[in-house]
Amino acid sequence: MTDDNRADPLVGGPLDEEAVGIDRPGLHAAPGARPQNETFGDIIARNIARRSFLLGLGASVPVLMTAKLPGFPGEAEAANVDKLRFKPIQPSNADEILIPQGYTHDVLISWGDPLFPDAPKLNVAKQTAAAQERQFGYNNDFVGFFELGDDRALLVVNHEYSTGADMFPEYNPGVDKSQADVEMAAHGGSVVELKKNGGRWKVVKSKTYNRRITATTEMEITGPAARHPLMKTKENPAGARVHGMLNNCSGGKTPWGTWLTCEENFNQYFANNGLLPDGPIKAAHARYGVTAGATGRKWEAFYDRFDVTKEPNEPFRFGWVVEIDPYDPTFMPRKRTALGRCKHEAATTALTKDGRVAVYMGDDQQFDYVYKFVSKGKVKKKRENNFDLLDEGVLYVARMSDDNTGEWIELSMKNPTLAALFKDDGEILIKTRLAADAVGATAMDRPEDVQPNPVSGKVYLTMTNNSARMTVRPNAGETAANPRVPNFNGHIIELTEDGDDHGAKTFKWEIFLLCGNPTIDLKTEAGDLTPGLASSATFFAGYADASKLGKVASPDNIAFDSRGNLWIATDGQPSSVDLGRPNDAMHVVPTDGPDRGYLRQFLSGPKGCEVCGPEFTPDDKTLFAAIQHPGEDGGFPNTISTWPPDNKPFPRPSVIAVRRKDGGVIGS
Ligand code: FEO
Ligand code: CA
Ligand code: CA
Repeated sequence: MTDDNRADPLVGGPLDEEAVGIDRPGLHAAPGARPQNETFGDIIARNIARRSFLLGLGASVPVLMTAKLPGFPGEAEAANVDKLRFKPIQPSNADEILIPQGYTHDVLISWGDPLFPDAPKLNVAKQTAAAQERQFGYNNDFVGFFELGDDRALLVVNHEYSTGADMFPEYNPGVDKSQADVEMAAHGGSVVELKKNGGRWKVVKSKTYNRRITATTEMEITGPAARHPLMKTKENPAGARVHGMLNNCSGGKTPWGTWLTCEENFNQYFANNGLLPDGPIKAAHARYGVTAGATGRKWEAFYDRFDVTKEPNEPFRFGWVVEIDPYDPTFMPRKRTALGRCKHEAATTALTKDGRVAVYMGDDQQFDYVYKFVSKGKVKKKRENNFDLLDEGVLYVARMSDDNTGEWIELSMKNPTLAALFKDDGEILIKTRLAADAVGATAMDRPEDVQPNPVSGKVYLTMTNNSARMTVRPNAGETAANPRVPNFNGHIIELTEDGDDHGAKTFKWEIFLLCGNPTIDLKTEAGDLTPGLASSATFFAGYADASKLGKVASPDNIAFDSRGNLWIATDGQPSSVDLGRPNDAMHVVPTDGPDRGYLRQFLSGPKGCEVCGPEFTPDDKTLFAAIQHPGEDGGFPNTISTWPPDNKPFPRPSVIAVRRKDGGVIGS
């Protein structure tokens, strides 16, 4: 997801060096006031009288009742409080985009749309890799908006993964090499120029800026793990170059105007870990879930590098945050190893008080961790001078204690525990998960997006869900930060860095949302039989009137508008949130003021999709959302979706632009 420095007018227009005041520390205003000396348990007792919830508190009560809220200085900042005025929509199963009255949307760009004047149109029956490399890729996820000025902009979009059964009339993985090549060309990312006309953004088939990055694009490996023995392969004995990026899910933007795009489930592309001899390489791959046998897409049938028995180190070259300059189509993407290797969801940035950059990251797996990187150097005024800033710094992993405090634990050879286990910092970074396991990081409920609020500076951590909590590992039952066992609906944590400094090594945290259905005690698939907080329990930051609240589950990608409202896109809302398993959605919730916690649904996606992005223009008048995998799992031609409507009969992942019919600010 996107970091958002829109609240700072000095960040933007990166081609104008003088306008980029990025060496100035202290982006964020002081946080607003909250009730003090109140426990989380007090808030629940005060605000949520639903009997089933209180009965369901069970074994977690002692922990939660003693947990103090962090203190907040100052008085409430009314200026930051914005009333959301749209009429919320209801959950839906309709195969269409639903948005509130007074709003409209355009399908901006879809899978297969030509990006260049000479690019062919999508022809599903005769698709080629050469065509796909000149067209918008598949399964759009992260969306980032970069201004060009004069009503022009660049949109950067991740293409997370392919599902051949939804892309080809007949899918023959492992048999048809041309299909594998199309799939590889449909991965990666796109840079797309936009032009605004009459309040509407439209795609420009631009030879100047438009770009496709794919699973074969040459990339540089930078930072402490570059040239490490574990990064060397037959194709690249130096360990400093790699072809492609894989499974790029969410991402972020740097204060100097570059795109951070994050490799997530890279493990699923590499085959045959089960055939490797037992040893540290096999064990490291296993910790990341590298496939034991054949992969689903079977690219290993055509390319040795996807078979670990032939190229055991190749998976170590994936699972990184990749930095790309969207303004320079010749820029070689750089895999930034200093930011660690995991199933990176997003990488969002904020400035520390002394002017360095902090990058927040989640590792999207049940029982995995939340990370933060802090650069060694300060952000400099000339943007190109920041292009190596993410190569040197400290990577931390979060420990979230049950008393609502927390600690960022350094992952380096300076940590004696790690010095005893690893040979060098490069190995620690390549095996980030194993290092984090060793230092007592807190195992979370699938950390997705982690993003600072541009108004308050507080950091929001989405935990999408964890149906396996308490059943997978010993001692992985409830913690105060992951209080529901199991956690079908997901939750969001609000983290306040000590001293309001993104460079801090300690923090306070509290639960912001326990997602679910706030009004009906719907039993989850497994029932509420386990100890700990009932899996159907909900909490909406203390908002009192449950009858007004929306229903939300599986929070994934988030964004903030410039007033500090939190926009939440969902991935896989279960039937426990509402009867009939509603389509994925987008919701908005104020983070401050009297409406803090008052969550409302703003958008419903078509069947089978997840909603990604989201991303606002700096004026908050356009909201981009990536509608990923509409109709997924139906398979061509029996797809469960035909969205977007003018593309029948093929569902096509697409980015939409939502705006108010009267041209006003979205949500207000
Ligand atoms: Fe690709 Fe964690 O969502
Ligand atoms: Ca995501
Ligand atoms: Ca997702």
